[in-house]
Amino acid sequence: MITFDSVTKRYPDGTVAVDHLSLEAPTGEITVFVGPSGCGKTTSLRMINRMIDASEGRILLDGEPVQNIDPPTLRRGIGYVIQQAGLFPHRKIVDNVATVPYLLGWDRKKARARAMELLERVGLDPAFAGRYPFQLSGGQQQRVGVARALAADPPVLLMDEPFSAVDPIVRTSLQDELLRLQSELNKTIVFVTHDIDEAIKLGDRVAVLRVGGKLAQLADPKTLLSEPADDFVREFLGHDRGIRRLQFVSTEGLRLRTDLTVTEDAGDSGDGAAEPWLLVVTGDGRPVGWRSGARPAGLEPYGTYVHGRDSMRAALDAALLSPSGCAVAVDGDGKVVGVATREALDAALAEAADG
Ligand SMILES: Nc1ncnc2c1ncn2[C@@H]1O[C@H](COP(=O)(O)OP(=O)(O)OP(=O)(O)O)[C@@H](O)[C@H]1O
Ligand SMILES: [Mg+2]
Repeated sequence: MITFDSVTKRYPDGTVAVDHLSLEAPTGEITVFVGPSGCGKTTSLRMINRMIDASEGRILLDGEPVQNIDPPTLRRGIGYVIQQAGLFPHRKIVDNVATVPYLLGWDRKKARARAMELLERVGLDPAFAGRYPFQLSGGQQQRVGVARALAADPPVLLMDEPFSAVDPIVRTSLQDELLRLQSELNKTIVFVTHDIDEAIKLGDRVAVLRVGGKLAQLADPKTLLSEPADDFVREFLGHDRGIRRLQFVSTEGLRLRTDLTVTEDAGDSGDGAAEPWLLVVTGDGRPVGWRSGARPAGLEPYGTYVHGRDSMRAALDAALLSPSGCAVAVDGDGKVVGVATREALDAALAEAADG
């Protein structure tokens, strides 16, 4: 656990970059610092590994003040990833990743083997190992940066806008990759971004900072979206707050109907004939399309969500993709487990709005 205990940073010119910051970044979780440019995110992050020293207050690493740990020792236990990866241009990818193991005096073979293992872990083709950074795309370089930070298996990872310089699609895949890695590695991660959507996607907890280095709110993403502490946070969270909050509402409790499906070869079953919409499924239970009582000839499009795994936002999206207004609930294999009608979605939304 990383603890900020009333930490202030005053630069020599008098700028107060961080002002009495107190918070905890729990072990094994992703804590995100988010806020507008100049609000002290980078300064806060760099005080953890003592690239910058605090003016007042203390930062503790598992209870031990970092001021008591000499910087090289401290940094061995802390991986650091920055924007545009910051790779050494004259070193091959494999040697970039092995930087810290080399510094720690591992033998070359072991260090390179570790580097190869990490390249694979972050989703890079081992064939890249012999290339130089300029021969990789921005997104690939960023993955190398993450691999390099993980090389000595540090318990703590500091990431300063690591995905800001890549396009939105690559950025999404890097975010997904980080979440997948984290589910295996359980590092204590402090992640800095100015992008609130990235903060909400990645953070177990999100610290919103305002200019002047003051903590505006510290909360899990769901609470942040539903209960912003003040106007600054509300404005920073931006549009669609209500809809975005639905991504944290489970579909587990959504009531499903199982009497609205017909198998495609079964012909018109008498049972559901009175229903305005019936979902046609294949023999092994996969959706084919909606049949409307008004237009029995053709099939209308459908939308699916994975029941219990996907959020209410996904269920609502699925419903909006179909003229039936119903969402098709499927299991992990894509087989239909039921249908969420408008009434069911309405009830679930009303409950979500309630709290
Ligand atoms: N060495 C320095 N001397 C004086 N002021 C500084 C120094 N470094 C940073 N600052 C100031 O401290 C404040 C916080 O800077 P910091 O880099 O921590 O912000 P940030 O939140 O990371 O911003 P960005 O999103 O633009 O990266 C800013 O006002 C900045 O101008
Ligand atoms: Mg910064």
